[in-house]
Amino acid sequence: MKSDCTVLKAVHHGISVLASSDKPQLEAEVLLAHHLNESRSWVAAHPETFLSETTLTSYNDSLQLRNRGEPLPYLLGYWEFFGIKFTVDKRALIPRPETEMIVEHSISIAGKHMNSRIVDIGTGCGAIAIALALNLPDALVFASDISRDALSLARTNSLRHAVRNRIDFIQADLLNSMGKFDIICANPPYLTTQEACTLPVGKHEPRLALDGGPNGLNIVREIISTAGKHLNDGGSLLMEIGNSSSKILKMANFYFGSAECSVIPDLAGRPRMLKITT
Ligand SMILES: C[S@@+](CC[C@H](N)C(=O)[O-])C[C@H]1O[C@@H](n2cnc3c(N)ncnc32)[C@H](O)[C@@H]1O
Repeated sequence: MKSDCTVLKAVHHGISVLASSDKPQLEAEVLLAHHLNESRSWVAAHPETFLSETTLTSYNDSLQLRNRGEPLPYLLGYWEFFGIKFTVDKRALIPRPETEMIVEHSISIAGKHMNSRIVDIGTGCGAIAIALALNLPDALVFASDISRDALSLARTNSLRHAVRNRIDFIQADLLNSMGKFDIICANPPYLTTQEACTLPVGKHEPRLALDGGPNGLNIVREIISTAGKHLNDGGSLLMEIGNSSSKILKMANFYFGSAECSVIPDLAGRPRMLKITT
């Protein structure tokens, strides 16, 4: 049944509900487009079209959820990472653009060798591993997570992108019982427990994906201290980091001695990725 609400009225209503968001118009249009199963440009081009009662109800429900802080990607059910569309839901962290650095550096390193063995530790929805499998056709890609839920989402994404048979999914605690690799990638939980409990991100995304212990370094330290015996000669560890970059670099130099250790900044100039090459 048609309602008496047009696309334009619905967008205006969405903008007022989402007034506290950074981009209320964009979010209202994206959500409406999603419920209409149309593109955002279709929404802009059809201001006078009347919405059905069903569309209006589901759109209003998602506006309310968004207003209460539910992340837009969870409402849409998908998000883009490295130009690839991933199914996302509460089982795993929403992949962030800054993590694309790990993929870019891995491609550049692995592109110089044949059949590189690469592992993505804490794969979440599978973003890093799947982006690598799609861009490195001859690489041997492994993806691990301690969370069974995250792994099931990652497997779904690998099927979506037809790389299920290119990736070995493993349930494991970090590098425990893993073999040797040319590249170890990781975007580990690196918030402090306090941050994971108080920041808005901790209310909506899995705590297991965020909480790095009292000073945020528990998992980072465990990876750095064990990675050496899981890297082939000339291998690299590429790990996203949060704060404490100088502490982390010291830790890397302590465990890796003669290896080349550096912290690479992201596009905003923030120290973002630890790179160790043995
Ligand atoms: C920050 S999320 C990263 C997810 C994904 N790689 C990304 O970049 O979007 C960290 C991931 O590490 C996983 N994790 C946490 N503790 C772990 C552990 N001890 N061993 C393996 N994975 C772990 C979490 O389940 C989560 O999926």
